[in-house]
Amino acid sequence: MKFFVDTADVDEIKEIAATGLLDGVTTNPSLVAKTGRKFTDILEDICKVVEGPVSAEVAATDYATMIKEGKKLAKVADNIAVKVPLTMDGLKVCKELSDAGTMVNVTLCFSAAQALLAAKAGATFISPFVGRLDDISHDGMQLIADICTIYNNYPEFETEVLVASIRHPMHLVESAMMGADVATLPPKVIHQLFKHPLTDKGLAAFVEDWKKTGQSIL
Ligand code: G3P
Repeated sequence: MKFFVDTADVDEIKEIAATGLLDGVTTNPSLVAKTGRKFTDILEDICKVVEGPVSAEVAATDYATMIKEGKKLAKVADNIAVKVPLTMDGLKVCKELSDAGTMVNVTLCFSAAQALLAAKAGATFISPFVGRLDDISHDGMQLIADICTIYNNYPEFETEVLVASIRHPMHLVESAMMGADVATLPPKVIHQLFKHPLTDKGLAAFVEDWKKTGQSIL
């Protein structure tokens, strides 16, 4: 399973990339707005740090402008995945860019039917938003299960399931159990993944007991 980080903060990306666990990055207009920086500068900085796919979302919603924006974003680096919304115009852009060899991440997916359309449009990634479904009392993880089932039924679909809008570690664990290809994780959730109270407790005991030996390994 691939781990992407869901942020446009280059310092956060560098910190997580240093673990060797990072396979890619996703950004969106809200995350870019938080940085106060120029979008293409951010993307150039990220692509210097991360070799895997870096999702860059178009800002327009009409086909003519989205295709121009997508082509411009794709030129920033070879590992840019152009992110488009799951609309009819968005999927037209997806098909055209995919046919031209550009990676495309189709975002704002909230139904299995939408995921089926994205796969037919040649998306590299489909991004179902689990947290936002949970927020409105729907079952986000059931959507992941449904998409995995559908995609597995049709091996000709090459679209990878990229679980987005992850809010806590169990979203990741359940996604992995369902066989989702990618999870994009907010930095906070990545830090939570390492934590277990018994690890902290056990480590503190080992450190204390080691002191009693009076030895040094170095
Ligand atoms: O990048 C898309 C997605 O991960 C957004 O998550 O927390 O804003 O629903 P959230």
